[in-house]
Amino acid sequence: VTAGPDLPPTVGIVGGGQLARMLLPAAARLDLPVVLLAAADDAAAPFCRALITGVPDAAGLRALAEACDVLTVEHELVDLDALETLEAEGHVVRPSAATLRVATDKVRQRELLGPAGVPVAPWCVARQVDDVVAFAGEHGWPLVLKRPRGGYDGRGVYVARDADQAREVLAEVDGPVLVEPQLPLQHELAVLAVRRPGGEVALYPPVLTDQQDGMCREVLAPAPLPDRHVEEAQRIARMVVETVGVVGILAIELFLSGDRILLNELAARPHNAGHVTIEGSATSQFENHLRAVADLPLGSTRSLAPAVMVNVVGVEDDPRGHLADALAVDEVHVHLYGKGFRPGRKLGHVTAVGPDLDGALDRARRAAAALDHGDPS
Ligand SMILES: Nc1ncnc2c1ncn2[C@@H]1O[C@H](COP(=O)(O)OP(=O)(O)O)[C@@H](O)[C@H]1O
Ligand SMILES: [Mg+2]
Repeated sequence: VTAGPDLPPTVGIVGGGQLARMLLPAAARLDLPVVLLAAADDAAAPFCRALITGVPDAAGLRALAEACDVLTVEHELVDLDALETLEAEGHVVRPSAATLRVATDKVRQRELLGPAGVPVAPWCVARQVDDVVAFAGEHGWPLVLKRPRGGYDGRGVYVARDADQAREVLAEVDGPVLVEPQLPLQHELAVLAVRRPGGEVALYPPVLTDQQDGMCREVLAPAPLPDRHVEEAQRIARMVVETVGVVGILAIELFLSGDRILLNELAARPHNAGHVTIEGSATSQFENHLRAVADLPLGSTRSLAPAVMVNVVGVEDDPRGHLADALAVDEVHVHLYGKGFRPGRKLGHVTAVGPDLDGALDRARRAAAALDHGDPS
């Protein structure tokens, strides 16, 4: 679609949420032309020059593919069959539909990565309560039951303490579930990896992610963990990236449980655990995603200083009404996503960088609390 072979490609992004909104400034800096497939009132829509209003079904994806040179996604709820058809016709899709099939399916992740040597918790797929009870016979209760596909922010993740609760979950999910022991978690970690089509890979230092009720609330970067855990997380991440063969950002969620690091799940797109890279790293996850997708040299993933991100999740009223209170906190980066207020909805985040983790955490928490409640800080 773009003029000549020497110009960077036009990137088509499926989706218009906060991830697309944060991809746009990175694209603008590099003067990469971008076209979005999104709804007119999505968070990113007001900031893009080219918008195709629609949904990621066969027709929407085709319209986007015809308007761009390389197609990528900011969320994974995409018609993958349609994406595969477009690939077969010669459209460039990064990450590929095959990668997205793995990244959107927690069972496939285990099937692919377990045999490749990636440590995962014991698991099974249960279709009926007897399957769950048999697994409990081996591993005990409580168990974690998960929808294999389509869950996010803990939606689709359930704890079952006995057969009755497992039966209720199966009735609600209305399909097979992934079953795991409920692990004692010392910490949750994430490693963001980015890979270029030719195989060049860069890893961001592991970060600590604090989850509450299945939703990421705080990120500490780099993770203040002993070297052996950091090295093990990086070793696993490298194995995962090589096995999946992603193009773009791959977010690798990990558990530190009983002194072992285990794979939790993947996302083949920029990720909440990487928002801290905008100000905390030499190159943000958003810029590196675009560089990879456009097949440009990757940027350094070096951490500039200890950095903290605190999510802004709807509490009692619209955080936009408390912006002045939050900005009264020195040296914080406030990001609001332009999404309508709803209790429990991710509406923004605050990042603070350096000089040390404790200072950054204090500032980011104060600004985020101000956005929640309008507290003077
Ligand atoms: N086997 C498990 N044991 C203990 N906690 C778990 C387990 N699986 C998931 N969790 C908790 O639930 C959260 C969400 O699970 P995850 O599979 O990442 O789903 P989502 O797709 O919603 O992010 C995790 O971040 C973790 O806090
Ligand atoms: Mg998760």
